[in-house]
Amino acid sequence: MGKLVIGHKIYRYDEVGSTNDVAKGLALEGALEGTVVLAEYQTNGRGRLGRTWISPRGKNILLSVLLKPHLEPDSVFLITLMSSVALARTLASYGFDARIKWPNDILIAGKKAAGILTEMVSDEHQSQCFIVGIGINVNMTQEEIPRDLRDQVSSLGPIKNKTLDRNALIKGLLLSLDENYNLLKHKHYEKILEDWSTLSFLTGKWVRVFVRERILEGVALGIDRKGSLLLKMESGLIETVSSGDIELMEKLYVQ
Ligand code: BTN
Repeated sequence: MGKLVIGHKIYRYDEVGSTNDVAKGLALEGALEGTVVLAEYQTNGRGRLGRTWISPRGKNILLSVLLKPHLEPDSVFLITLMSSVALARTLASYGFDARIKWPNDILIAGKKAAGILTEMVSDEHQSQCFIVGIGINVNMTQEEIPRDLRDQVSSLGPIKNKTLDRNALIKGLLLSLDENYNLLKHKHYEKILEDWSTLSFLTGKWVRVFVRERILEGVALGIDRKGSLLLKMESGLIETVSSGDIELMEKLYVQ
């Protein structure tokens, strides 16, 4: 095995605004790719679609990785895809049946246990840097999950009825990210798409998609080569959804 890129340098903090912002700051100062930022607590943790990411102090994993791949603009989405594969695989190695809910939520038994927020920043040489921010609910108790989210959110430790070693999990995740990042750098895009599809939670299921003012209902077919979700509507028409919120329509599974 070659030298690992991801995690060659790890910054650990007790408290930050957001690990993604710290990683952005480091990128602007010229930090090398593979730099990792970890925090025990975030005062301004962010999720996708402008949401807040809530995580009690010292319980979960809050991590950001700085990456500088040379990608064509229409392949940028693969950064998040390969990261979600790495994350799902790491959790699978702990015996969890982790699935990816498009675009990049990690579900265990249908409930979200981790999420990814990828952001972009240009460094001082105007070259593109990507910050992959990963939040994993590890040892947060059921009571620590906000009441209104309890039927949608899960935490790894409570599922197994034990406290998990966060450092071991981080180590496994960084290794898995490194492996998947190599696929991306060597342009093995097909392999990433294939791995992602194998882990996809939504494929073959009836879903409701909220896209701005529109609501679409149909069967999720998978993703296209741009990372958009393909939805087969009742009319037979196939819609392409590039971003949105998805709800599962529990009753209607397709054989
Ligand atoms: C989502 O599912 O909406 C994405 C959640 C991403 C949360 C992580 S926690 C570490 C990093 N720092 C942040 O502010 N957000 C990401």
